[in-house]
Amino acid sequence: MTPAPTTTPSDASTKPALKPTAILHRTPWRPPVATAAEGMYVWLEDGRKVLDAVGGAAVEKVSYVYNMQLSNEPAEELARVLIASSKGAFELCGFVSGGSEAMEGVMKLARQYYYETGQPQRSNFIGRKLSFHGNTLGTLSLAYHPTRRAPYAAILDDRNFHHVSPAYAKRFQKPGETEEQYVERLRQELEDKFLELGSDTVIGFVAETVVRDHRRRGATQGLFQAMNKFVMVHFGFASQLDRQDWALYMHGRHSGRGHPDIQAVAKGLGGGYASIGAILMSKKVADGVRDSAGFWKHGHTYQAHPLACAASLAVQKVIVDEKLLENVNVQGPYLESLLRARLQAPNALAAPFTFDIRGRGAWWGIEFDFTGPEAARLDFKGTQFAIAVQARCLQNGLIVMGLTSGANLEGTRGDHCMLSPAYNVTKEQVEAIVDIFVASVEEILKEAAV
Ligand SMILES: Cc1ncc(COP(=O)(O)O)c(C=O)c1O
Repeated sequence: MTPAPTTTPSDASTKPALKPTAILHRTPWRPPVATAAEGMYVWLEDGRKVLDAVGGAAVEKVSYVYNMQLSNEPAEELARVLIASSKGAFELCGFVSGGSEAMEGVMKLARQYYYETGQPQRSNFIGRKLSFHGNTLGTLSLAYHPTRRAPYAAILDDRNFHHVSPAYAKRFQKPGETEEQYVERLRQELEDKFLELGSDTVIGFVAETVVRDHRRRGATQGLFQAMNKFVMVHFGFASQLDRQDWALYMHGRHSGRGHPDIQAVAKGLGGGYASIGAILMSKKVADGVRDSAGFWKHGHTYQAHPLACAASLAVQKVIVDEKLLENVNVQGPYLESLLRARLQAPNALAAPFTFDIRGRGAWWGIEFDFTGPEAARLDFKGTQFAIAVQARCLQNGLIVMGLTSGANLEGTRGDHCMLSPAYNVTKEQVEAIVDIFVASVEEILKEAAV
């Protein structure tokens, strides 16, 4: 926010009109934008100076801009940037504090849409097995990550949340099945699930565009087109996507075809500098809500927070100004080629255990497997390989993420490591990453040899 003006305008008739907003606000009115503040006083875009007697949302110690009474410039600007960059896919957005909150917001907005538009019987969500949409009770119910939900299974909602097979060709495509046949099988399964539930009871099908946390499977070619065609043509309901890699979406990967009605974005939106997530909605959803309640029935104390929105705007600007996605498009394939050469070459120590290397951009997952005959000569003494690799990498000076339990529906198998260096990674750093990663993998393998 700019510094507070030293004087207050004396003539209220000179008040400028409020600018249009690209935010679906949580209030039936369009809250004025705060432009400056000093102590307990806040200046508004129409020139008024107001005294804050409630500390935003009773946060007390200091005054701050709370989205129920006031909007703020960084949030309004970020909303305009996101909506403009979606090339017509989305009309309005809302801001929260991270990915799980964004997915909760997606679910509630989708339900609100049907509630407001005269279809209150819609109460079912369909998600995918082995998916992950966050760590709240709602998102754990929606997704199906076997180990993360296990302790809470007894208190998760299995009445309104239903699941279909993962989109995970490497593990679940049948022998002799083409990719088209596999996609068709998944599409048919989804259609069958709709019919089983009653298609007019379904609020939405929810999926990750790229499975983030430990499988990094990538969407099977044509899958989203097939799903979108199905959900839009057959049932005309809102499909929802969970997309955490906002920057890739925003800066060029979006084709404008087959976009969902609601999309969550987080992670890259704040680039690690701020805790922020966003919910983007198509014109259809925006109109449904605008034409009825007119506001989003969903509010948090820290929603559209000015600091987080300002940081997110700065992150998006740096990504564009420093051409970071161009860098990703160079360093990403280089990272992939080095990983393949060092882990999958015929003479590579890790080759018999490197089940898959998959990813996109600079975001790569390496899936290991120890069920083949060669694994008989290894004994990890009860340690999980991916976790051992993560720990050894750290000892050797590299941070990676090791994850387990994503290779089967029960969550009892799986060793995955994830690499997703910052967009400004250099060629030398890519080489160092692969050197240390492969050395750490080989150390663990050698130590396990019996
Ligand atoms: C696809 C997906 N959805 C939701 C989340 C939850 O986001 P957060 O950790 O910010 O709550 C994640 C986090 O990894 C994710 O990858």
